[in-house]
Amino acid sequence: MNKEEKYITRHKPKSQKIGNSISFPHLGKVPKGIGARGVGGLSATNLTKRFGNFTAVDRITFEVKQGEIFGFLGANGAGKTTAMRMLCGLLKPTSGEATVAGFDVFKEQEEIKKNIGYMSQKFSLYENMTVRENIEFFGGVYGLKMSEIKPRMDSLLNKLEFTDVRDKLVQSLPLGWKQKLAFSTAIFHEPQIVFLDEPTSGVDPVTRRQFWDLIYDASERGITVFVTTHYMDEAEYCNRISLMVDGRIEALDTPKNLKTEHNANSMNEVFYALARKAKRVE
Ligand SMILES: Nc1ncnc2c1ncn2[C@@H]1O[C@H](COP(=O)(O)OP(=O)(O)OP(=O)(O)O)[C@@H](O)[C@H]1O
Ligand SMILES: [Mg+2]
Repeated sequence: MNKEEKYITRHKPKSQKIGNSISFPHLGKVPKGIGARGVGGLSATNLTKRFGNFTAVDRITFEVKQGEIFGFLGANGAGKTTAMRMLCGLLKPTSGEATVAGFDVFKEQEEIKKNIGYMSQKFSLYENMTVRENIEFFGGVYGLKMSEIKPRMDSLLNKLEFTDVRDKLVQSLPLGWKQKLAFSTAIFHEPQIVFLDEPTSGVDPVTRRQFWDLIYDASERGITVFVTTHYMDEAEYCNRISLMVDGRIEALDTPKNLKTEHNANSMNEVFYALARKAKRVE
C-alpha cells in the first residue's frame, strides 16, 4: 500500500457507507435554520434553459431528498452549471418547474438565495483578502451578525487547522486549502442546501478526500449537498447520481444500481458508456 492509499484507508468518510451499500441514517433530520416551507430538498420537472436556439438544459426531471448527497455528472458542456444556476435562483429558466427548499425558481429566487449556499465553478473567495476577512465578509453576506460570526469562525479555523493562516491572504494558500475554505464559507450560515460546482477540480487526491470528509459532516447535519464533479471516485461517494448528456439527464440512480445496470465495474465505465453518446462538442 503506498502512502496515499494508506491515507485514504485511514480517512475513509466515517458514518456514511459509500459505493455499494448506501445508507441515509440522517435523512429526515431538520437542520438548523430550516426555511418557512420546511422542505430541505429540491425537485425539478422538465426544467429547461435555452440560449437563443440552443437548448443548454433540456427538460430535466429529478428530486433530491433532504440530507442527500446528490452527484451531478456530465461531460464538459453537458449543462451542469446552467442547471445549477437556475436552481440557485441566479438564472431564470425558459420553461418547466422547480422548487428548491420549497421555493419556486421562477417566483421566489430571493428566498432561494437565503436558504442555500453556492460554491461556483469560477469564483469562490476574494484572493486579495485574508482568510479571516473572507469568513467575515461571507458571514455578513449570508446575514450573520459579527457576534455570531466570531465564535463560528474560531471553531471553523480550529476544525480546518487554519488558525495559523487566519491573517494570510487567500492567494498565498494552496488550492486545496482555498477550496476547503470556500466550501466552509458556503455553509457558514448552515443553509438547507449547498450547491458545489466542481469544488475539487485540480485538487490533489489526499486533499480531495479531506474535502469529502467536510461534505459528509455537512450532510450528517442535514444539509443537502448537490455537487458536480469530473472525478469518478467522488461519484462513488454520492448517495445518488444523475448523468447529463447534451442537456438531458441520461441516467439517475445509486452508483451501485448504475454499475449493475450498465454491467460495469466502476463509475468510470458507466460514465464512458453514457457520455460517449454526446453530440455536443465543447
Ligand atoms: N450564457 C450563455 N449563452 C450561450 N450559451 C451558453 C451560456 N451559458 C452556457 N452556454 C452553453 O451551454 C452549454 C452548457 O454549458 P454549462 O456551462 O452549463 O456546461 P457544464 O456541464 O457546466 O460544463 P463544464 O463541465 O465544462 O463546466 C455549453 O454549450 C455552453 O457553451
Ligand atoms: Mg460547469
